[in-house]
Order: sequence, then C-alpha cells, then structure tokens
Amino acid sequence: MAVERTLSIIKPDATRRNLTGKIIDKFESAGLRVVAQKRARWSQADAEKFYAVHAERPFYNDLVAFMTSGPIVLQVLEGEGAVAKNREVMGATNPADAAVGTIRKEFAESIEANSVHGSDSAENAAIEIAMCFSDGEIVG
Ligand code: CMP
Repeated sequence: MAVERTLSIIKPDATRRNLTGKIIDKFESAGLRVVAQKRARWSQADAEKFYAVHAERPFYNDLVAFMTSGPIVLQVLEGEGAVAKNREVMGATNPADAAVGTIRKEFAESIEANSVHGSDSAENAAIEIAMCFSDGEIVG
C-alpha cells in the first residue's frame, strides 16, 4: 500500500478537555506519524472556507460556530493508507455509531463535537493539507 498523507484536526471539544496527547497516541499507536502540527484558533472565515463543501447542510452554521469556539490542533498524518487508516482510528462521524476503541467512541461528545476531523479521500487530503500548511511546515 502507498504511503499517503491526510489532514487531521483535533477539535475544540477535545482541546478544551486536554485530550490532545491521548488522541495523538491513538494515531501513533496505529502506525501514523505526525509530520506537521500546529495549534490554532480559527476565524469565522477560516472555518467557513474549510467546510465550504457543507455550506448547504443544515448543520453548517452551528459547525462553523463550534469550530471557532476554541483552539484546534491541525496535523498532517503520514503512513501506509493514511486516509483510510485515520478514518478507522477516528470511528464513525456520530459517536453513537462508532466502534469500540475508536477516538470518537472514547472521546466524542456528540455528532458535532466529535473530537476529530480527518480527510475523506486522498484528493480531499491534498486540498485540505494545502489549505492548512505550507510545504516547509511539513517535515516527514
Ligand atoms: P467532520 O468530519 O469534521 O466533517 C463535517 C462535520 O460536521 C462532522 O465531522 C461533524 O462534526 C459535523 N456535523 C454536525 N452534524 C452533522 C450531521 N448531521 N452529519 C454529518 N456531520 C455533522
């Protein structure tokens, strides 16, 4: 399987509860490497741009408000099949549907405050990584 990169975001519900280290441990234990990382506080424009694909969804405004409600940690994760592996480690979007041992099963508060975001395809990973990091910030 090819070595890939994917974008990960540790969301405000997780930074608020000081869960950053526990979440990173899940990624590293699954064989993913953190090759870029920064803590940030998104503006409304940042969140609207990142989630523009969901602009027509009923949860969009609440999602933008939530993602700007506190600090986030942006990461690039690298590894074999990183996009799919990260989605496996995160678990289903709705924590009620997430498998035991996944980040969202263990830590998510709700479908909105679900602790982590991960790119859903290699194509979107490339777009999201370019949106959040310059090439020089990624050190593999
Ligand atoms: P994420 O992987 O960041 O992608 C879009 C986010 O919208 C999702 O995780 C959830 O946090 C949030 N969201 C809120 N409500 C819903 C919903 N009903 N279906 C899907 N995503 C939702």
